[in-house]
Amino acid sequence: MTPETQKNSSDVVVVGAGLIGLAAAWELSSRGKSVVVLEREAPGCGATSVAAGMLAPIGELDFGEPELLELNLRSRRLYPEFIAAVEAATGLDTGFRHTGALHVALDRDEAAELKRSLDLQLSFGLDSKWLGPMAARDLEPGVNPSLAGAVLVEEDAIVDPRALVEALRAALPDRGVRIVTAGVTGLIREGEGAGPVVGAETTAGDFRAPAVVAAPGAEAGIAKWLPEEIRPSVRPVKGQVVELRGDAEGPVCQRILGSERVYVAPRPDGRVILGATVEEMGFDRRVTGGGVHELLREAYRMLPDIAEMEFVDAIAGLRPGTPDNTPVIGRTAIDGLILATGHYRNGILLAPVTGLAVAELVDGHDPEWLAATDPGRFRERETS
Ligand code: GLY
Repeated sequence: MTPETQKNSSDVVVVGAGLIGLAAAWELSSRGKSVVVLEREAPGCGATSVAAGMLAPIGELDFGEPELLELNLRSRRLYPEFIAAVEAATGLDTGFRHTGALHVALDRDEAAELKRSLDLQLSFGLDSKWLGPMAARDLEPGVNPSLAGAVLVEEDAIVDPRALVEALRAALPDRGVRIVTAGVTGLIREGEGAGPVVGAETTAGDFRAPAVVAAPGAEAGIAKWLPEEIRPSVRPVKGQVVELRGDAEGPVCQRILGSERVYVAPRPDGRVILGATVEEMGFDRRVTGGGVHELLREAYRMLPDIAEMEFVDAIAGLRPGTPDNTPVIGRTAIDGLILATGHYRNGILLAPVTGLAVAELVDGHDPEWLAATDPGRFRERETS
């Protein structure tokens, strides 16, 4: 082995330095694995940088997704320990706060819809409760006084995804993880290109490892370096968000606030993130007047005080959507190649459990709690 080859050899190569790739590197390195993370752009600059960071398995629960709920709850339970370890390693604040969430109905139709969501939550034994208008405003005095009612979810929490990425970037090198700026151009395989994966070819040379974890986010479905037979059914789902600056001493809200059409996610320094549109627009990442207008209008309807806040920014990102809204985490038909993508609306929430899953898979285990995320599931449905 030449010194160059040795330098570029590790136990695991992770492709993609969004929060998912970084969380995988975190868990792998905590198990003593040497890890190289390959990223074409800056770490965390994709969907991670746009995400509000709601850790809201209960408030964001939708109909017909019980397996996803289970995975989301598992990851939510892992969050405090994950954050404590990252913050202890760096001394950096990741913005993780157990704020709870208040989901607001602003008229009778919205109240009927919100009660359906509450019934769904209660049917799973989740801890949510209905509040009348006065009780809701006792908790969040800024909410529009004409509200019809609200659902309080005390368990939901929030993190600042950008701050978390910064903390991981600071912590990972101390654990021997190398984050390399390089675009992946192909996989290196044994047996004339048809055998197990043993590394990745990149614009910065070859990186060899007996396990490659592909975490390319919304690009997974078009990533040419992934062989077509295992390329997952992942599509980009555009989300626009607006950032407003306010007063840390007198924040407009303490909790995550949500309505049918918008959420307001508070940051510890008084900023809020208004999110998010859900648009099937391919890889278009333009911020539009209509998108910003909708977010501001709906947020203002719920929380009129936002009108006094300073406009900071509006950005758009691409969620990696899948046909069943559940991520794709697991082994592929190609030995040594693991997929970790397709997290759709739950990428930040699912980071710790995805890191854990990837580390278990690399260690040769197949956790039973990962059954719903099997990368082969869409192909099986197509052929049956
Ligand atoms: N998790 C919220 C969103 O994707 O907009």
